[in-house]
This record gives sequence, C-alpha cells and structure tokens, in this order.
Amino acid sequence: MTEINAAASGRFKIGGDLEVVRLGFGAMRITGKGIWGPPADVEEVKRTLRAVPELGMTLIDTADSYGPYVSEDLITEALHPYPGLTIATKGGLTRHGPDQWAPLGRPEYLRQCLLMSLRRLRLERIDLWQLHRIDSKVPAEEQFGVIAAMKSEGLIRHVGLSQVSVAEIEAAAKHFPVTTVQNRYNLVDRSSEDVLAYCETKGIGFIPWAPLNAGGLAKEGSSLSKIAAKLGVNAGEVALAWMLQRSPVMLPIPGTSTTAHLRENVQAASLKLSAEDFAALDRQGRDEWKTKQ
Ligand SMILES: NC(=O)c1ccc[n+]([C@@H]2O[C@H](COP(=O)([O-])OP(=O)(O)OC[C@H]3O[C@@H](n4cnc5c(N)ncnc54)[C@H](OP(=O)(O)O)[C@@H]3O)[C@@H](O)[C@H]2O)c1
Repeated sequence: MTEINAAASGRFKIGGDLEVVRLGFGAMRITGKGIWGPPADVEEVKRTLRAVPELGMTLIDTADSYGPYVSEDLITEALHPYPGLTIATKGGLTRHGPDQWAPLGRPEYLRQCLLMSLRRLRLERIDLWQLHRIDSKVPAEEQFGVIAAMKSEGLIRHVGLSQVSVAEIEAAAKHFPVTTVQNRYNLVDRSSEDVLAYCETKGIGFIPWAPLNAGGLAKEGSSLSKIAAKLGVNAGEVALAWMLQRSPVMLPIPGTSTTAHLRENVQAASLKLSAEDFAALDRQGRDEWKTKQ
C-alpha cells in the first residue's frame, strides 16, 4: 500500500455482490481532444492507467465511444487481465467527429456494441455494462429487452443506465435489475438530486460523471480555492471529498490523463470534511447551481 490509497473512500457492492472501492477512475480523458482519436501523450496515459490499481482504485469507467475505441484499447494494453479491477463500459452512442455523439439504441447495434467491447477488452463477460443513453427514436422496451437477453446469455454481469430519470430507471427495472446509474452530478450541478435520492432508497450505485465539473472545480481560482487553502489541500480534493461524504451510494469517477492529477484526486479519499465545512460547501454549491438556472 502506498501512503495515499483510494481504499480510504470505503467500498460499495454493485448489485449486492460486486465490491468496488468507492473512488474510481473515469477513462474518458485518456483520448484525444473532443474525446476523438489517441491522446497527446500515450506513454503518460499508460503510466496513469497502471497507477490506478497501485493507488487502490478498483473501478474503471469507460465506453466504446471514447476515442472511439481508444479508451478501451489502452485499458486492455495497460491492464489486461485486470487483477482486482472492475472494468465498467458502455454502449449505445455513435460518433461522428470530435465532441459529436448520437444515440443509437436499435437492438442489433446494442448487441454489436457489447460484443465488440468484449473483444477489445479481451473478456468473456462485462462486469458492469451501461446503456450510455436511451435512444428516444427506438422503443425503450426494445433496448431494455436486448440488454436483458444479453444478461441472461451471461455476457453481462450487472447492468447500469446513464443520464436517466427516476421514471426511466423504473421502466428499465421491469426488464433487469438496475445496479448503477451514471448521471451528471457534482457540487455545483444538482439536477439529479431526485435520482440520487431514489438510488439511495434502492441501494443502486450512483456514479456521478463530471465530479470535478469537467475540471472547473479543480482548477486554480475555482470557487473552492478558499476552503481548500484553509484545509491545506487542492480544490479538486475538496470537491471529491464532499461527494464521497454526500452519500454512501456515491461512486465518483474523476477523469484525468496525468499521474500527477490522479494522485491528487486519490488524496481526496482520505480527506474527511467537518460537519460545518460539509454543510457550508453544500450551501455554496446549491447557491452556485441556482444562480445558473
Ligand atoms: N455517462 C456519461 O454520459 C458521461 C459523460 C461524461 C463523462 N463520463 C465519465 O465520467 C468521467 C468523469 O467525467 P469528466 O472527465 O467529464 O469530468 P471530471 O472528472 O469532472 O473532470 C475531468 C477534467 O478535469 C481535469 N482534472 C482531473 N483531475 C484534476 C486535478 N486534480 N487538477 C486539475 N484538473 C484535473 C482533467 O484534465 P487532465 O487530464 O489534465 O487531468 C479533465 O479535463 C469520465 O472520465 C467518464 O468516464 C460519463
């Protein structure tokens, strides 16, 4: 064990039986600009990936569409056969250039997404496969139906959803147990508070994407700089520590392409905020969120 270790964030059992360390790694940022093509510094990205388990993280979140394929390919190259790691991937988005994403939920395409992720990741089963987006142009039952079929065929262990409402989780739960929900959420983006509350009551893992508000909360001059200086830590650590304390079902996956930022983010696992600091941050975050509405 190194002196900083993500294990200090505690553990959560996805679907009641797949135990992960709560602070995980988001692998979207290990690609090129616009999440398109290879990263600028492939060797640094591989070092970062190899440092993930060394620093005690066990959950890596990726998707076939990151790159596309670049993120899954680099994870395979750096970490296969993934001892002690859970690789969570996603399917259901097509790519048409940098920063362009379009949902495609036709059952035959979702099956292709999963089968190709299995090939790229060199796995026989995906521990956590997430539907990246529900496609509004395809009946939801068809999308949920093929996922349920792939689960009963043993190709998927647990199913997660991404960017969904409570009603959509309930609709999907008629087809398979929904074990995780990945929605945009952070200190200053509180649009999914209702979904988080629902996940808490059902024991569903809540994976907040953009936990650092896409880096905004971690950068110099962030609105968290003052409290970070008081605590003698970095602003990003404060944002992540707040999330970990916000809920026991919270599984943050900060994304980075550098070992230096990875180490900073892992330090958040050991940062315990006082009740006063937690409440003050909560108020500040809600106020910032409201002013943006
Ligand atoms: N389900 C979905 O629809 C969805 C959508 C978006 C993302 N995601 C997932 O969520 C993960 C996290 O989201 P995200 O990557 O968009 O946002 P994020 O984790 O909030 O922020 C990532 C950004 O912050 C920077 N950063 C990270 N750590 C830092 C630190 N300690 N100090 C300063 N800057 C830091 C990174 O740049 P550097 O590389 O320079 O560190 C990167 O630009 C993704 O990796 C992906 O797995 C899912």
